[in-house]
Formats: sequence, C-alpha cells, structure tokens
Amino acid sequence: MQRGAVLRMLCPLYTILHRRAIRRFEPKQIGEEALRQILQAGLYAPSAGGRQGVLFVVSQDREVHERLGRIKRANSHPRMATAASYVSKEQPSIADDPKLTNAFYDAPTVITLFAPKDFLFSAEDCAVAAENTMLAADALGIGSCYIGQGWTAFADPYGQEILRRWGVRSDYYAVMQILMGYPRETDRHPAPRPRKEGRILRF
Ligand SMILES: Cc1cc2nc3c(=O)[nH]c(=O)nc-3n(C[C@H](O)[C@H](O)[C@H](O)COP(=O)(O)O)c2cc1C
Repeated sequence: MQRGAVLRMLCPLYTILHRRAIRRFEPKQIGEEALRQILQAGLYAPSAGGRQGVLFVVSQDREVHERLGRIKRANSHPRMATAASYVSKEQPSIADDPKLTNAFYDAPTVITLFAPKDFLFSAEDCAVAAENTMLAADALGIGSCYIGQGWTAFADPYGQEILRRWGVRSDYYAVMQILMGYPRETDRHPAPRPRKEGRILRF
C-alpha cells in the first residue's frame, strides 16, 4: 500500500484534507468490502435526536444511473461556467461542461440518501451521513461526489417508477446522491482551492 493510502486510513485529518469531489471514474465497480465500510460509516453518523432516519439506497445499475442522471441534468439549474467562475477545471461539473449529459458522471455506484419529508432535520441528517461516507471512501482510495437536490432525479415518470422499484416510502424524499467509484487513473488527484480568508471569528 502506498504511503498516502496508509496515512488516509490512519489519520482522519489527513483524509478530511485529502477528499475532493471526483467526477471522472474508472468503469470498474467498487469492492463489496469497501462498500460495506462506506455504508457503515454513514450509519454511524450523528443524527438529530438519535433518530437514525436516513435511508441509504445503493444503486449499481448503470442503465438506471444513465437515465436518472440525464433527467437530473435536464432539471438542473443551467448556470454555465465562465473563465472566472467555474466549479472545477480538473474535474468539470455539468455547470462547467455542457457536453456532460449525465449528472451522475457515469459513476458505477450511486447512493441516494432519503429522509422523512416531515422531519425538520432531514437535510442535516443526510448531509452529515453523506460526509461520513465520502470520508470513508477517500480513506479506502475511492472517489466520491456530492450531488445536491437529490429529488430532481425522480421528477418524471421514469424516476417515479424507480422509486417504486426501490420500494421507497412515499413520505420520504431524496435529499442528495453520493457518487462513488475509483478515480480515473489518468487524472491527478485534484488540488483544493485556497481557503477563503476571514471565515473563522475568535473571541
Ligand atoms: C450541497 C452540495 C451540492 C453539490 N452539488 C453538486 C452537484 O450537483 N454536482 C456536482 O458535480 N458537484 C456538486 N457538489 C460538489 C461541489 O461542487 C464540490 O464539493 C466543490 O466544488 C468543492 O470541491 P471539493 O469537494 O473537491 O472540495 C455539491 C456539493 C455540496 C456540498
């Protein structure tokens, strides 16, 4: 195992600083044991009132990803990048590159996090669980990307059919998707942007 991989396994802060949004994936599926650990990390996230209301739906069906990803793309805000304003030059997002037609970027695994529609902290519960899964993924050498507004992927009859196929309760909604896959080997690991100044106030 490479030194960086060992450090990521052993040191949470190293992993936190190393994780980046990955949008270019190898076609190879992620390993079962890695997926188990990633989901375990999600299950052990904090939750409001300890309610553990988040539902993790794991899909490894490429045809479903392709169709839902296109629906999501069509339902996304059409902001396009400019030279001065972009999401990522190294791992372009759908906002950066109009040629990207699948909002799930051909990721081999897509985890949709659902939570109750009528619970005040559903979005927060899903967000902390999502971060746990992404950090676990990074520690295991797996790339991930957070995809916001998860519900837009299901906003048409095909999406509704998939919700029924997955057996998701109608009082739950999709908060976000987390994409998982091995980062494309020909790409460098993306560099973080410099952190904006003045975001910590101490007294
Ligand atoms: C709430 C939220 C929504 C996001 N939605 C998307 C998305 O729809 N598509 C995408 O490619 N990346 C999405 N991202 C990933 C961000 O673009 C990414 O985290 C950001 O550019 C910073 O890059 P980094 O994660 O590598 O530090 C989202 C991230 C967050 C936290």
